[in-house]
Amino acid sequence: VLAGRKIVVSAGGTREPIDPVRYVSNHSSGRQGYALAQAALDAGAREVVLISTVETLPVPVGSTVIAVDSAEQMCDAVLQSSADADALIMAAAVADFRPEIVAERKIKKTDDTAGMNLTLVRNPDILLEVKQQRARIDYPRVMVGFAAESDNLLSNAQSKLERKGLDMIVANDITAADAGFAVDTNRVVILDASGKHPQELMSKAEVAEAIVIRVAGILNNR
Ligand code: CTP
Repeated sequence: VLAGRKIVVSAGGTREPIDPVRYVSNHSSGRQGYALAQAALDAGAREVVLISTVETLPVPVGSTVIAVDSAEQMCDAVLQSSADADALIMAAAVADFRPEIVAERKIKKTDDTAGMNLTLVRNPDILLEVKQQRARIDYPRVMVGFAAESDNLLSNAQSKLERKGLDMIVANDITAADAGFAVDTNRVVILDASGKHPQELMSKAEVAEAIVIRVAGILNNR
């Protein structure tokens, strides 16, 4: 269903450096993103670009991996790769903040260091940057986001769908034991222009397949 298409997927939690040996990050495993890249390949995509912070998962054979660490690096790679893409699927857990100052050398403590303060500043919102790019050049043709929420799942997801200019958002209740970070299953609700579509408990591979089928549907109806 994706024959001839170029699909860009982001995966994993971004790592925001503090000094050469430390970073701030989150619990994202990258598994849903890798499953999406695999599903896009299985659906016959011409080109699958996986923009990833993950080093521990096998690369889906046939995809091109662009390795990144920070949100800023991911933003550059996503903007560039999606400039001729049919669809961008942002499965990455992008850190909203990064340390204001990155120490060039390892930060050392002394006997009387009781604690330290870390000042964080806002990262770019990658999807908002892509939305602006799409307004200029019409690419990527389809934009899909994820919403990982612990409260007010559907209303928060719906407002992200609108604010970020998405064609589809995949809402994920991270408080459920069988969904979200570091498990192989996900219980999601897909929201798009046609409404809210709750899915059963599925493997991340099955969730990926459901998303890919809907992306293909949107592209084919354009
Ligand atoms: N996202 C992004 N850039 C960011 C943060 C998030 O592109 N700086 C993307 C994520 O990849 C995801 C979607 O936006 O597809 C929603 O991410 P989420 O962390 O749930 O939302 P936030 O925009 O961070 O909103 P909030 O902090 O209110 O939960």
